[in-house]
Amino acid sequence: MLAPTHIPVLLKETIEALAVQPGGRYIDCTLGGGGHAATILDHSSPGGQLLGIDADPEAIKISEARLEAYSSSTLLINENFVNLQAICIKYDFFPVHGILFDLGLSSIQLNSDGRGFSFQHEAPLDMRLSPNQEVTAADIINTSAESELAHLIRTYGEESHSHRIARRIVQERPIKTTLHLARTIELAIGSRRGKIHPATRTFQALRIAVNQELEHLETALRQAINLLGFEGRLVVISYHSLEDRIVKQFMQQESKDCICPPGTPICICGHTACLKLVSKKVITPSPAEVQLNPRSRSAKLRGAERLTTQAEDEQYKTIEKLCFSVGVNTGGWRKPTLLKKLRQAFSAP
Ligand SMILES: C[S@@+](CC[C@H](N)C(=O)[O-])C[C@H]1O[C@@H](n2cnc3c(N)ncnc32)[C@H](O)[C@@H]1O
Repeated sequence: MLAPTHIPVLLKETIEALAVQPGGRYIDCTLGGGGHAATILDHSSPGGQLLGIDADPEAIKISEARLEAYSSSTLLINENFVNLQAICIKYDFFPVHGILFDLGLSSIQLNSDGRGFSFQHEAPLDMRLSPNQEVTAADIINTSAESELAHLIRTYGEESHSHRIARRIVQERPIKTTLHLARTIELAIGSRRGKIHPATRTFQALRIAVNQELEHLETALRQAINLLGFEGRLVVISYHSLEDRIVKQFMQQESKDCICPPGTPICICGHTACLKLVSKKVITPSPAEVQLNPRSRSAKLRGAERLTTQAEDEQYKTIEKLCFSVGVNTGGWRKPTLLKKLRQAFSAP
């Protein structure tokens, strides 16, 4: 049998947006099948390093096998990216040249029989990325009040028939499997709704709720900024409007010097930009990519580059001058690494 695979989305565009360079250090926060990671390692060779993170232990196993040739330059960690900063501190992996988030699920997870992510295979209603998480989709479906379910399906699934679906779910409980839930939704709202299956939005909503996807994304984006080195790149690929809205608003806000409400006569926020957008327009797959990989159709890529504040910039320039004067190669690194390099240079025999 062929090994399960996932085709990396917007691969060339990701490498360009990350500005991958030889000797660079990168973090792939969503390792999946290791497709983006392998190409980052190819382009950052010689000397590149990659920290790969995935909440799903299966993804780590698959990536370990795929990235075996690069084992000396990779560190693969089975963790949730909500702990990005703590992971980087623990493994002393910062500052970095680039951080990638390729959100959502891999085809491997969607096609897997037992995970409950798809309404096309019969499976227990699980949907957890990691077996260490406590709450499953079945817990939410079978214990939430009707109004809570309707709210969740409406908010995370953007489903306009959320009340009808929630009412039917409550009548039908207990619901333990994917196909039982899919049939219940069809009974509530009918079996044909344009191009998408009637269960699509409810399944999306449940997955987001089970894995706290939106909250974790917001937290991790904030942490990512502090881990980027001078001119380091942050690249995010999202697959639905809720994720994309968070990424867009975050990047836009962090690339502005003032975020006071419109009409405020003088700035009172004191906010300073720490990002610069890599491209003003969102990047989407070409028709050829969508034809080759239909799962890429909803992908949206946004990229930004880390700016330094004026004070950081001045400090950096001073340290850089010092580096040059003692013959230490600055290699584009920011303060903490430069300081480390300087210390090493001075303590060398
Ligand atoms: C679209 S796939 C990534 C595919 C990968 N870029 C590739 O080329 O093979 C998304 C991956 O992110 C992981 N993931 C999603 N949310 C996560 C989180 N909060 N923390 C860690 N991993 C997460 C999923 O388990 C999944 O393996």
